[in-house]
Amino acid sequence: MIRFDPSHDKELEEGSRAHYREPLYYAKSYARRTEDVAYYRSLAVQDGGPILEYGCGAGRIALPIARQGIRVVGVDLSREMLDAFRVRLKREPEAVRDNVRLVRGDMRSVRLRERFPLVLCTFNTLLHLYDRQDVERYLARVHAHVTPRGRFVFDVSMPSAAELARDPNRAYRVPPMRWPATGQLVRYAEYFDYDPARQILYVTMHFEPVDDPQAAWSTLLAHRQYQPRELEALLHYNGFEVEQILSDFGPGPLDRYTDSAVWVARPRKRSSPSRRVPRPS
Ligand SMILES: C[S@@+](CC[C@H](N)C(=O)[O-])C[C@H]1O[C@@H](n2cnc3c(N)ncnc32)[C@H](O)[C@@H]1O
Repeated sequence: MIRFDPSHDKELEEGSRAHYREPLYYAKSYARRTEDVAYYRSLAVQDGGPILEYGCGAGRIALPIARQGIRVVGVDLSREMLDAFRVRLKREPEAVRDNVRLVRGDMRSVRLRERFPLVLCTFNTLLHLYDRQDVERYLARVHAHVTPRGRFVFDVSMPSAAELARDPNRAYRVPPMRWPATGQLVRYAEYFDYDPARQILYVTMHFEPVDDPQAAWSTLLAHRQYQPRELEALLHYNGFEVEQILSDFGPGPLDRYTDSAVWVARPRKRSSPSRRVPRPS
């Protein structure tokens, strides 16, 4: 059996951790990504919670939900992201702080003694599950933590054939920017290298301080690429039914222009034994 276990694959392990070691840079990079925050916040308000968010990071989505008076349990692997979340919480009123519980751990194994009517896995966190066994372990945890009539909602980037075909040696540059922790001006380039056998996109982010090019460093991000029909099958065979798939947090169906696919799934009702066995006619 082919097994790509990130804990035995240093590159994958690094690819699911490195990007999250610099929460200030992360926050700066995604400051303009707001549609997902609005979508999840309104979903949470409609639902009422409590909510479990896998991959809560520094609270970009969980904190606006907690500010609505809704209780959130956030699970994340990254100590740095959770520390940044705690710093943000210190600036919040006590009522908001009391709404948040943070758990450091791997989403494939964390056990909480609670079920939630709404379980979220936000902003590509699911793309850090690199093979079928990862997904199965994770979906079993979701199943154990969602109420029987609850929802499991997640969003993932749609694989783009053009993007996956990019030349791995080509640098995709953007204008220099200030590194938030130091204020240093850095040149920034990204390299994209897609492994079609494992369906993993490796993104190498290269940073080069303008005044000190020798101090350049790189950060790796590894994202599994899930085709929609593959995800649907994984959900189906792991006990979920898909209720809805949204395009870019709006109502539209998935199409070639979709950037983020938003999946709304529910635990599948078990058919009763009498219906499972066909009766002789
Ligand atoms: C793209 S960030 C999303 C953070 C936040 N939800 C947001 O929207 O900004 C993905 C998060 O998933 C976390 N993560 C990656 N692999 C994980 C795992 N196996 N278990 C739990 N969290 C994981 C990372 O540490 C990171 O905080």
